[in-house]
Amino acid sequence: MARKIAVLPGDGIGVEIVPEAVRVLELVGRRYGLEFEFAEGLIGGAAIDATGVPLPEATLKLCRESEAILLGAVGGPKWDDLPVHLRPEVGALLPLRKQLGLYANLRPVFLFPALEDASTLKQEVVAGTDMLVIRELTGGLYFGEKKREKTPEGEVAVDTLVYTTEEIRRIARLAFQLAMKRRGQVTSVDKANVLESSRLWREVVNEVHREFPGVTLNHMYVDNCAMQLVRYPRQFDVIVTENMFGDILTDQASMLSGSIGMLASASIGGQVALYEPAHGSAPDIAGQGKANPIATILSVALMLETSFDLPQAAGEIRLAVAAVLAEGHRTADLAAPGQGYESTQEMGELIRAKLA
Ligand code: IPM
Ligand code: MG
Repeated sequence: MARKIAVLPGDGIGVEIVPEAVRVLELVGRRYGLEFEFAEGLIGGAAIDATGVPLPEATLKLCRESEAILLGAVGGPKWDDLPVHLRPEVGALLPLRKQLGLYANLRPVFLFPALEDASTLKQEVVAGTDMLVIRELTGGLYFGEKKREKTPEGEVAVDTLVYTTEEIRRIARLAFQLAMKRRGQVTSVDKANVLESSRLWREVVNEVHREFPGVTLNHMYVDNCAMQLVRYPRQFDVIVTENMFGDILTDQASMLSGSIGMLASASIGGQVALYEPAHGSAPDIAGQGKANPIATILSVALMLETSFDLPQAAGEIRLAVAAVLAEGHRTADLAAPGQGYESTQEMGELIRAKLA
């Protein structure tokens, strides 16, 4: 019986990287006796152009009927001036996460040894980086009440940072559970010296920690965490944090893995999980074969592991990526100045050749 995967390439480089990852999934799935049925859906600017809305009902339905979702990226300058609720980011990505109940975004930050010199940071600092950032994905500043008012003194804009005990509890529990499968160490990141929501966050994390005596917990302010990430990244095993902090810290942490083009993600917590690279649609390099497909290919590895319970298949993909990088192949984002690089398609092909 074929397993249905919703494929949402989206915009910009999304349409270049997703096909490479789909081919990897097909290849590896077959070896493990899985046959996939890929059903494409419209999202983001592509959906606006075709249907007038960034997240068509048909796409949501397709996602709900699938066993997993593979997403490329959404957005681009063409749609930036639309009213905010129609823009790809706010009109498609956020409601997709919310409607599917995907409250936990897992972003593994792992440095392949061959890329130790690809980072802008010193090799001795980044070597051995291996952490999992768990970003709360359906609460906090992104989803709190927003408003804008004209007053006699000028305009006022408000974004609200809200967390409930239950929202914190479920993400904390997940962090401790996942830490037990890793090195058993959780860093909870907040701004409890200033924010009330962070003080609740810290209390609830401490409370949930009592269920996990085998895991060590430390708390860190978000500003300090930003500094510690580039000072001594090997200190981190699992980081758990609220939506906005996680958004910012993971872009920063991606540089520990060489490039944001290496950062995969899995969004879980609902009936169906969503897998997507953590980078955006990169309109500046779209259509030029310059995009790095590895983040999407590693997202497919997360899918095999998480949605299909095939950790071995995921391991094979990671080994193939490691081997291709060890041979010196680089995409444009990873290449040293003046060094040649592989196109998006060539990199996909090289990884599949290793897998075959
Ligand atoms: C991410 C992205 C999105 C986010 C944008 C595109 C809305 O930056 O997935 O990290 O902020 O969540
Ligand atoms: Mg981001």
